[in-house]
Amino acid sequence: MTDSLHLKYKHEAVRLPENFTEGMIRWTSPSNIALVKYWGKKEGQIPANPSLSMTLKHAVSDFTVRYRHKNSKDRKGLDYYFHNQAKPEFTVRIERFLRSLHPYFPFLEKLHLIIHSDNTFPHSSGIASSAASMSSLALCSCSIEEQIRKESAKKKDFLRKASYMSRLGSGSACRSVYPGYTVWGKHDRVPGSADEYAIPVNTGIHEEMLEMRDAILIISSGKKAVSSSAGHELMKRHPMATTRFNVARNHIPPLLESLRSGDFERYSRIVETEALMLHGLMMSSSPWFILMKPNTLKAIEKIRQFRQHSKLPLCFTLDAGPNIHLLYPQHNAEEVEHFIEDELQYLCENRQWIADEMGRGPVKLS
Ligand code: DP6
Repeated sequence: MTDSLHLKYKHEAVRLPENFTEGMIRWTSPSNIALVKYWGKKEGQIPANPSLSMTLKHAVSDFTVRYRHKNSKDRKGLDYYFHNQAKPEFTVRIERFLRSLHPYFPFLEKLHLIIHSDNTFPHSSGIASSAASMSSLALCSCSIEEQIRKESAKKKDFLRKASYMSRLGSGSACRSVYPGYTVWGKHDRVPGSADEYAIPVNTGIHEEMLEMRDAILIISSGKKAVSSSAGHELMKRHPMATTRFNVARNHIPPLLESLRSGDFERYSRIVETEALMLHGLMMSSSPWFILMKPNTLKAIEKIRQFRQHSKLPLCFTLDAGPNIHLLYPQHNAEEVEHFIEDELQYLCENRQWIADEMGRGPVKLS
C-alpha cells in the first residue's frame, strides 16, 4: 500500500521507550448498518465502491486493553477474553489485525496485551460484531500511541487515523468511528471522501433523518453459511460486478439528497434496492448462496403491505444475513412498534427484536 496516509503514519510511528512500564485504555464503539452496501474489495482492504452507513447507538463493543512491556517470560503477546472467557476463534482474528497495525504502531510488538471485550447485544443475535469490535480495538491502539507519545492529536485527525486503522481489521469498521451518517470510499461528489478511511456526512441532514430508529428483527441467529470475506471474494469474478459498483456509486448522491431534504420515499427506494441487490449478488455468485430465510421474505412482504395501507414512512434493509433492519423516524415509533409486535414479532426467532437507533459514535471510558 502506498497511499499518502500509509507513508505519513509509518513516518510518524513512535517506538516504545525502554523505561515504559504499563497502562490501560478502554473504548466502546458501535456497530453500523450500511444503506449503500460495501460488497467487493481490492487488495489492501480498498472497497470496490463507496458505501454509506448509519452508526447505531445500543449495539456496541466495549474493549479494555491492559498493556505492559513484554518480558523474557512472555511466550505470547496477547491474552484475549470475550465476556471473561478465552475465545481462541476470535483471538486469531485479533492477532491478525494487530499484526496489520505493526507498521504504524511498532510498539505493539513490544507490548504484552490483556484484552477484555464485551458486546451489549446478544452474542447470537446475528448482528455483525466485527465493525464494533475492530473499531474499538483500533481506537484503543490509537490511544495507546497517544499515551506513549504523551501528546494528543486534534479530534479530527485522531478519528481519521482510527478509521484508517479500523479498516485494516474489517472494512465496515472504518465507518463506526463517527456518529450518524458516514461515507467510506472515494466519490467525486462527496468532498473529502477516500478509499482508506471513512468521513462523517452529517452537515445539513434533515432533522427527521437524524432521529432514525432501527428495529433489528432477529429472524435467525445461527452462524452464517458464508462469511462476508468469502462474499467479497466472489465479487472479483461476478458477471455483474462492474454494473453493481456503478449502481452503488450512483446511489450515493441521491441518498445524501434524500437525507438532506427528508424525502423518506426516495430514501426507502434506494435503501431497499441496495438491500435486495446485495442478496441478489449473493444468489447470482458462482457458487451462489442464499442468506435470507423464508421468514425474511414473509416479513418483507408484511412491511410492504403495512406501508401501503398505513402510508407511514418505514423501510427495511438487510445485512449479509437473514435479519431485517426496519428503519423509521422516531416520531412514528409508537405505530411502527405496535406493527412489529402484532405482525412481525412472531416471525422472529424466540420473538426477539432489538430496538436500536442512530448513535453518536464511540466513547472513551476511564
Ligand atoms: C454486507 O466489513 O464484514 O455488511 O472487510 O471482509 O471484514 P470485511 O467485510 P465486512 O463486510 C460488510 C458487508 C456488508 C455491507 C456493509 O457493511 O457495507
